[in-house]
Amino acid sequence: MQSSMTCVRLMKQHSSRLPALLRLSPRPVTTQIGSRRDYASLHRDQAYIGGAWVSGNDGNTYPVINPANGVEIGRIPDLGVAETEDAIKAAYQAFQVWRETTAKERSDICRKMFNLMMTNQEELAKIITAENGKPLAEAMGEITYGASFFEWFAEEGKRCYGDIVPTMTKSKRMLHMKQPVGVAAMITPWNFPNAMITRKLGAALAAGCTAVIKPAEDTPLSALALAAIAEEAGVPPGVVNVVTCSRSNVSQVGKHLCKSPLVAKISFTGSTAVGKILLEQSASTVKRASMELGGNAPFIVFDSASVDDAVAGAIASKFRGNGQTCVCANRLLVQDGVYDEFCGKLRDKISQLVVGDGMQPGVTQGPLINDRAAEKVEKHVNDAVSKGAQLIIGGKRHQLGRSFFEPTLLTDVPKDALVCSEETFGPLAPVIRFTTEEEALIMANSTDSGLASYFYSNDIGQIWRVAEKLEFGIVGINEGLVSSEAGAFTGIKQSGLGTEGSKYGINEYLDIKYACFGGI
Ligand code: SIN
Repeated sequence: MQSSMTCVRLMKQHSSRLPALLRLSPRPVTTQIGSRRDYASLHRDQAYIGGAWVSGNDGNTYPVINPANGVEIGRIPDLGVAETEDAIKAAYQAFQVWRETTAKERSDICRKMFNLMMTNQEELAKIITAENGKPLAEAMGEITYGASFFEWFAEEGKRCYGDIVPTMTKSKRMLHMKQPVGVAAMITPWNFPNAMITRKLGAALAAGCTAVIKPAEDTPLSALALAAIAEEAGVPPGVVNVVTCSRSNVSQVGKHLCKSPLVAKISFTGSTAVGKILLEQSASTVKRASMELGGNAPFIVFDSASVDDAVAGAIASKFRGNGQTCVCANRLLVQDGVYDEFCGKLRDKISQLVVGDGMQPGVTQGPLINDRAAEKVEKHVNDAVSKGAQLIIGGKRHQLGRSFFEPTLLTDVPKDALVCSEETFGPLAPVIRFTTEEEALIMANSTDSGLASYFYSNDIGQIWRVAEKLEFGIVGINEGLVSSEAGAFTGIKQSGLGTEGSKYGINEYLDIKYACFGGI
């Protein structure tokens, strides 16, 4: 009773701020597509700490750039260690109250987050397209995906049961209870500016944790829009904090989050190289860590597969987010018997992809996040061609600008090409030929990464064998799109630690406490 009253009091204090937030209600879409007017009610140009919209101590800001046209779409605070410490303290104080709320109260708030995200879906999607470049239809899909984590964890949070343990001694009784770990720091990527926050935040809030979010330097506006949604949903001050910073401050902000004794948990989605640094930095405080790191997904097509299904799956998996997802197919391994048919049909489908500004109707491939990303695709293409691969379609920067790259198909890619060992993170489909199942498995598993993998086969025995033998946390079988709030997003080997989404994701934010009652 007391805890629920505390929460209500906090929410009442908080709701005194509501006038500013009423602007969130859906508004008519303007015709000036891609301008800030499209999402003005959710555009914030300040960071969010302790329930207040704040600028940096020294007033420094940095620009957010639309990768499709190089236009500045916002200037936001370039925060450093001092403001990060403020956010951690705010989250720590808020945790003392938030942890006392009931699972039902937290569930109601998560449910409101879901509802508000869906009500504001188009505005949130336009923010994604403006700062990340992905086509609007895909960004709308990201909001549905992102919101689903609040809906999912609103339910899961109510079902975090402990156990009564059968006793081993007559005079004792034993139980396990689950409790929130505390302040969770979340360092999130630019490729899903919304959903990679909500997958962590939904679980954390439902479990009773508070959060300090450090969004990617390139895509902070989606994080700030989510903070505005959280405010509207009645999330009390300090429970969600967003610390923004530019590339020049990112390593000190990240390090401070990792080293702070007040932060109990670090959750990161991004490159394996950065994940290793964060793990090292977190060692001094023995933090709980969840790491969703890089992949190098094999996509195997066996002779028994339906080639049309495999081609559709390859397009969906390889070209989602313009190839910039950790679960994108990176290497297409195709068996001799269907090799020519698969390559021909894949070429036809790739030639139908439409490159352009993601705000324009009909565009399926936006720009890459920046020029450096396009450089890496270029390097992988040139390397493979220099080693004997055939360039079938694409292969160079698109005429629209430096960050645009033509959807590319390479065939006869040799096993020693860079693309076989490194994640391209771009619109390059390299096809590698194989003869036997054993050869395909050896190639597929020859990587330190272990996130997603895919294969197409209609041979039931082969399906079982291959699903069991692939050394990856996720296996798509006759399916190129596997991401779902209900499925466990898990990388093994050097692709990560821990699980996001599914019934397991909330455990990352819970400690198990064992209580032993004596003298019974
Ligand atoms: C990622 O690329 O990090 C996440 C992809 C997904 O959730 O589908």
